[in-house]
Amino acid sequence: MSSTKPESVINVKTPSATGRETLSITDNRTGRQYEVPIKNETIRALDLRPMKVNTEDFGLMGYDPAFTNTASCSSKITFIDGDKGILRYRGYSIEELAEKSTYIETAYLILYGELPNKSELADWSYNVTHHTFIHESIKKFLDGFHYDAHPMGMLISTVAALSTFYPDAKDIFNPESRRKQTYRLIGKMPTLAAFAYRHSLGMPFAYPDNDLSYCGNFLNMLFRTTELKYRPNPTLERALDILFILHADHEQNCSSTAMRCVGSSHVDPYCATAAATAALYGPLHGGANEAVLRMLVEIGSVNNVPAYIKRVKSGEKLLMGFGHRVYKNYDPRARIVKHIAYEVFDVMGKNPLIEIALECERIALEDDYFVSRRLYPNVDFYTGLIYQSMGFPMTMFPVLFAIPRTSGWIAQWEEMLLDPEQKISRPRQVYLGHELRDYTPLDRRD
Ligand code: CMC
Repeated sequence: MSSTKPESVINVKTPSATGRETLSITDNRTGRQYEVPIKNETIRALDLRPMKVNTEDFGLMGYDPAFTNTASCSSKITFIDGDKGILRYRGYSIEELAEKSTYIETAYLILYGELPNKSELADWSYNVTHHTFIHESIKKFLDGFHYDAHPMGMLISTVAALSTFYPDAKDIFNPESRRKQTYRLIGKMPTLAAFAYRHSLGMPFAYPDNDLSYCGNFLNMLFRTTELKYRPNPTLERALDILFILHADHEQNCSSTAMRCVGSSHVDPYCATAAATAALYGPLHGGANEAVLRMLVEIGSVNNVPAYIKRVKSGEKLLMGFGHRVYKNYDPRARIVKHIAYEVFDVMGKNPLIEIALECERIALEDDYFVSRRLYPNVDFYTGLIYQSMGFPMTMFPVLFAIPRTSGWIAQWEEMLLDPEQKISRPRQVYLGHELRDYTPLDRRD
């Protein structure tokens, strides 16, 4: 794993400050000097292009594998200060939203920039609620999956399949069309997820119940059996709602970047959401909650934690649910999640794996390996324990991340579409392969 420390930067003698919002660059290959504007603490990579040795050269580029220090867009949706452990949606702190808001209200905030008034919230809830049904043909499609198919695979495929049911979604520069697809996506993601879960159990699908809240209805579609009316446990319903608020957006992470990047080709939002969901599936991103639980099960007991941490420090393993590209402090979401865990345990009984998790955290927060690399628990460290206690199988954990993140993906997609500076995503490369060479016929190759 590579470090992101800027080791190659050479500090030269600092002349006195001029107060100008510019960066002076001397190209030592030519001795030429350049002054590049600084705006919002960034320089434009294209301003490097005129820096050439010969006129026919391509010009200088930035080299930034994995975008560790490159802003690919400007955004007004989510603010993170990774050093201070701050997360805000549209200016509102995650702590306040988790305490006072609901997921459906937060989704509106993320998508439309402001908290809704009463009638806006009522309309929004109505429209999302009335787009929860899926076409009966999608059920047939789901039936084609093996009983042990991972629900993320089923979710990715069925979201992509929605594209074939709604060809009007291709009209991406029509605000009305975008609004309609937004209702559909936010409304149907829980239905697709719940149907995937029921398929894996071999149980009949449970249809949406419009009388219930967004999360209450999701629990209904997952867990209803013979009862005429499913009544979600209010503590579990609220716990899930808060978890959905915490997962709603996280600025330019891997899956949002996938959403923007794929969406920049002007494909419809269902295909772009399928791509984002696929990006989320990986164990370094939204699949980490599942990976954490598998790790805790593998560790098995509190006594085995020191030996496991030793394997992590030797580079043999990762401590899943620890570390973050942006947070170099305690992930503010993890703090809230830890608190919710105990509320859920009060209803469902304590998850025995919590002791192993707490011991991992205790050792890691004192150990120089983790302290020096500023590795703290991230949102995924405790969520799996909650989901398991609520009765979800491990394979459903990433799905529980994907459902609420859909609001963030759509907001990022729409912001990208409406940004006049954005074009189809197309990074450059540094080509280090062969120069032109002659084709060798097959019979002359070793
Ligand atoms: N366990 C052990 N060592 C780690 C871990 C970890 N979980 N995370 C980072 N490191 C080490 C890494 O080996 C490297 O060490 P060195 O400097 O000696 O090479 C150093 O810390 C910096 O790590 P990095 O891999 O360069 O950092 P990154 O920004 O590229 O990766 C990350 C961020 C989240 C992918 C990584 O921390 C990781 O793999 N964590 C475990 C998976 C995980 O929990 N992912 C969920 C992220 S939060 C939810 C989400 O947004 O999706």
